[in-house]
Amino acid sequence: MAKARRPVTRNSCTVFIFITAFWNNTQPFEESGFSAIYSNRFLNQFPKNLPAETTVLDLSHNNISQLQISEFRYILRLQVLNLSHNVIQELDFSVFQYNEDLEHLDLSHNVLQTLSCHPALSLRHLNLTYNNYTDMPICPEIDMPKLQYLGLGAKRILGSDFSALAHLLLDTLFLSLEGLSEYKAKSIPVFNTKTIQLVLHPHKDFRILTDLELNATESLELFNIHDTQVNELRMFLLSRSGRLLNLTLNNMQCSWEELLSILQAAWETTVEHLVISNATWMDATNANNFNYTETSLKTLVIKQTIITSIKSDPQYMYRIFSDMNITALTISGAKLIHMLCPSKPSHFTYLCFSYNLLTDAVFESCNNLTLLEMLILPVNQLKHLIKMSLMTSHMKSLKYLDVSQNLLQYKDHEKGCHWGENLAELNLSSNQLSDSVFHCLPVNIQKLDLQHNQISRIPKEIVELRALEELNLAFNRLTDLPGCGQFTSLRLLNTENNSIVAPSSKFYHTCPRIREVKAENNPFRCSCEIREFIDLRKQGLVVLVGWPEFYQCEYPEDVRGIWLEDFHVSELVCNLTLLIAVVLVIIVVSVAIVCFLCIYLDIPWYLKMMWQWTQVKRRIWKNYPEDFPDDIEFHAFISYSEHDSDWVKNVLIPNLEKEDGSIRICQHERNFIAGKSIVENIIDCIEKSYRSIFVLSPNFVQSEWCHYELYFAHHKLFRENTSSLILLLLEPIPPYIIPAKYYKLKALMAKRTYMEWPAEKSKHGLFWANLRAAVHIRLPET
Ligand SMILES: *[C@@H]1O[C@H](CO)[C@@H](O)[C@H](O)[C@H]1NC(C)=O
Ligand SMILES: *[C@@H]1O[C@H](CO)[C@@H](O)[C@H](O)[C@H]1NC(C)=O
Repeated sequence: MAKARRPVTRNSCTVFIFITAFWNNTQPFEESGFSAIYSNRFLNQFPKNLPAETTVLDLSHNNISQLQISEFRYILRLQVLNLSHNVIQELDFSVFQYNEDLEHLDLSHNVLQTLSCHPALSLRHLNLTYNNYTDMPICPEIDMPKLQYLGLGAKRILGSDFSALAHLLLDTLFLSLEGLSEYKAKSIPVFNTKTIQLVLHPHKDFRILTDLELNATESLELFNIHDTQVNELRMFLLSRSGRLLNLTLNNMQCSWEELLSILQAAWETTVEHLVISNATWMDATNANNFNYTETSLKTLVIKQTIITSIKSDPQYMYRIFSDMNITALTISGAKLIHMLCPSKPSHFTYLCFSYNLLTDAVFESCNNLTLLEMLILPVNQLKHLIKMSLMTSHMKSLKYLDVSQNLLQYKDHEKGCHWGENLAELNLSSNQLSDSVFHCLPVNIQKLDLQHNQISRIPKEIVELRALEELNLAFNRLTDLPGCGQFTSLRLLNTENNSIVAPSSKFYHTCPRIREVKAENNPFRCSCEIREFIDLRKQGLVVLVGWPEFYQCEYPEDVRGIWLEDFHVSELVCNLTLLIAVVLVIIVVSVAIVCFLCIYLDIPWYLKMMWQWTQVKRRIWKNYPEDFPDDIEFHAFISYSEHDSDWVKNVLIPNLEKEDGSIRICQHERNFIAGKSIVENIIDCIEKSYRSIFVLSPNFVQSEWCHYELYFAHHKLFRENTSSLILLLLEPIPPYIIPAKYYKLKALMAKRTYMEWPAEKSKHGLFWANLRAAVHIRLPET
């Protein structure tokens, strides 16, 4: 599972509620150990094979009826055991005698009838509420020295039943007396407990409050107070509230007058924090006086309680609250339509009216809230941002304003926003604000929450907000990351869930202080532009919250769902200059390689040879069958200098003739006919040969004979107009060594292409093939 990092949602009115400790006595267990969770498994029996290192065992909501010592001997490190919602009837603490670390035991919602008196030395938290016992289940002599929390219920409290509790020095005692059916007056002892939570019978009054005595108790939480008990409660508060600091009244039914009487009583006690929740009362009536005497009370919280005034003028009711001389007032979930400005300079530093129906008229032109530091108004009917600003302009101390989840708007043409000068934190989330809201913001704002609005961009020409450090623009319509042109101190920027496709990294250059950016869940387009944004993170310039799993490509389609972290595109694709440079380099290198190969491998020579070879083939193919004179007997006559005869005899002739005899050579030593002169023989040989090969070399040039041969051959050449002459250059002949009288040879060498004998062995094959092709022809059968 990916861990979602969502903004911490703070219940808007909890800031000043101090009585939160009531339910939180269960300390979290952080020791390394094993938690075995077997909740809701339809178990009839204790689970088998639990790991020995089990420290937390949750067996709640099962059908377990019995506990055996043998089961607990294997889990000696057990610290927390939750057996709530099972069917256990009997409990002998001795089953835990080996579990010396057992601290938390929840046995609520079972059918317990009896408990043993075995000492439970390590227990800190024991919950026995909602069971079947009628009498107090704890023996007077039971030994639980470490116990801090005890939850108990009872159906019957008679005589000294509860006296055992008086000796326990607890942090919290939870007494559920909802099911009480019998109570003997004065059976409740004086408790030595810091916090008492007492659930009274919802309908019957057993006059428990009359008997309740507090000794060291600082917090008292009462549930189910109905109107017959109101007077009792009032008397209790006035006479025996001792050192009580926190009082919470849950599920109270009373009239407006009765409520006021309780408030009035609380005003005269030591109670500092009073919470009334889930109360129902009748219509507020007028003509009530409230005596705001000097009081210890600091905080009053009224929540989930409808305060309306239908029959009479509600102003009286508002007045009673607004003139209270306490520092913090919360009235939440009360359908309040209005609240009056205090009639004289007020003590309030904190006001919370969340979940009501307040309108823009609240605290209009109110000069008496000069000490107010926090004003919390989420979920109301506020509509005009400008009116909110004017409201705060008189609140000289106001630092924090929460008007989230309202209907606030600000129109461009409106003028005259004027905010309280000390306002540093402003929550405008979940309203109907658009880009223009940036024209109506407090200049000294440090933290601004604008999430869930309709902002598409931050206008350029706005007042500089130099103190702004945190800006939340999540769930808006932004298409790019805003820069920090007008808020140079920005450290945290939240732009998650907007429409940012290609976040430009330019924003960073305008944000010198930026440390953290949240840009999760935007429809990113993964292309070249996004790389710079990713690089910001790589270079450690900004921390991207939620990286990498909440940063995914949305476009183009083929990479949708890929994490930005895994998206790679090469520098080459994105950088045109680089691309051109690379292409140029490739071309240059290729050309160089080709040149090198040509020179090193003598490619032009091969090409030339191939060309000659194809030419010869073409010619043969074109002229075939040729009209040969019938006297042609040889493929070639070879003319050479005596000095080159070794090469001719050992290399040229064997390679030309081969074994198959397909090529016949006329060689004057071999084929000379005796009786004829040499010249006649040569002429004869030339005339009987299809081609004449002249092996040219400096030696050849010097040899007189050869010139004769060449002369004849040349003549034949001209006579028959065939290219019967093949010049084979065995060794290079510098032109100057050809004597001037051999102008013909010079001319021939200049005009005709000749075949060069390659020095490299590797080229010989092609050379021979070429030469053979040049002389090859089907000779008439002789
Ligand atoms: C602003 O209010 C909203 C909703 O009321 C809340 O979720 C958010 O956490 C608040 N912002 C701040 C910065 O407290
Ligand atoms: C035991 O389980 C119940 C029901 O799931 C739960 O309400 C209670 O808080 C748990 N107790 C402890 C000590 O964890």
